[in-house]
Amino acid sequence: MAQTIDITLTTNKKEKPPENKLGFGIYYTDHMFILDYSVEKGWYDPRIVPYQPITLDPAAKVFHYGQTIFEGLKAYRTKDGRIQLFRPQKNFERLNRSNARLSIPDVDGELALQALQELVRVDQDWIPSAPGTSLYLRPFVIATQAALGVAPSTEYKFMIIMSPVGAYYAEGMNPVKIYVESDHVRAVKGGVGEAKTAGNYAAGLNAQQAASEKGYSQILWLDGVQRKYIEEVGSMNVFFKIDGTVYTPSLNGSILAGITRDSIIHMLKSWDIPVVERPITIEELYEAGANGTLEEAFGTGTAAVISPIGEMNWQDKPLVIRDGSTGELTAKLYDTLTGIQNGDIEDPYGWTVEV
Ligand code: COI
Repeated sequence: MAQTIDITLTTNKKEKPPENKLGFGIYYTDHMFILDYSVEKGWYDPRIVPYQPITLDPAAKVFHYGQTIFEGLKAYRTKDGRIQLFRPQKNFERLNRSNARLSIPDVDGELALQALQELVRVDQDWIPSAPGTSLYLRPFVIATQAALGVAPSTEYKFMIIMSPVGAYYAEGMNPVKIYVESDHVRAVKGGVGEAKTAGNYAAGLNAQQAASEKGYSQILWLDGVQRKYIEEVGSMNVFFKIDGTVYTPSLNGSILAGITRDSIIHMLKSWDIPVVERPITIEELYEAGANGTLEEAFGTGTAAVISPIGEMNWQDKPLVIRDGSTGELTAKLYDTLTGIQNGDIEDPYGWTVEV
């Protein structure tokens, strides 16, 4: 049942940035959503308020023990003026799986979706319409109880903020150079693993910075136990087309269950292109590169959608894919998926949700 969300509109609307200078996650819209939690009241006081800083006690648990999770999805303005979201229910299902891992209480998925839709409606003038742009929506939960004992917080805030965005990577759809990281790992099964939580991203910053100093734009992450199996690329899932079949690492407890990943698998199946989810070793990828069967490689995620991989380096061994150009299937997947998301192509899968 729809709940009442209290709305306080800003009296001080911000100037909007030019659509060709959005970058990623730099500008924020005029409003945000907040929902509080206490053990006594459960989740309470859903409200949309002017975008503003929040005040937290310095002892709030999120600062000390990282009890926090987040999601990312996008709203699009179609050419005929409608607003649509892409598979938002999936984000809230995953949000609650991450919550469970971090001992954060479940958020009502229906209320979260209602809040998201109302917030997008309130700030709909912020949805950019230039090609490749969208409104990025960032739901997240933080533990706010001021207490330094290591135990789950008794208070939380669930919030949604929104940012008009362009391409996530400066390269856009141009293939990126990636560094295969053999020392640091991103996430480990049994640790916070596949949960979409801050620590998994913080763990990658150091190696990402070192790779970028060496001229690589992203990291290819290997598994945390043997440094043998491919996990993710940057903050994305990864796919390889080898000899006509598309392979992606199977979800193993440390790989993020990407919604773009799931959509790509679905699309490939519906096009009768063989797609296999299984553990993939870095050695076999290099073998496929050496024997000429590695045809395409790309990352998938909400932020970049699809990012082609042109070159990689593992233990000082370079591997160039397709002479560094974007593959045909990669381009077709990108065009079709972004077309469905922004309403240029009819959605045969029932994925889009109107606001
Ligand atoms: C995504 O593309 O899905 C991400 O999670 C990227 C985000 C961390 C900026």
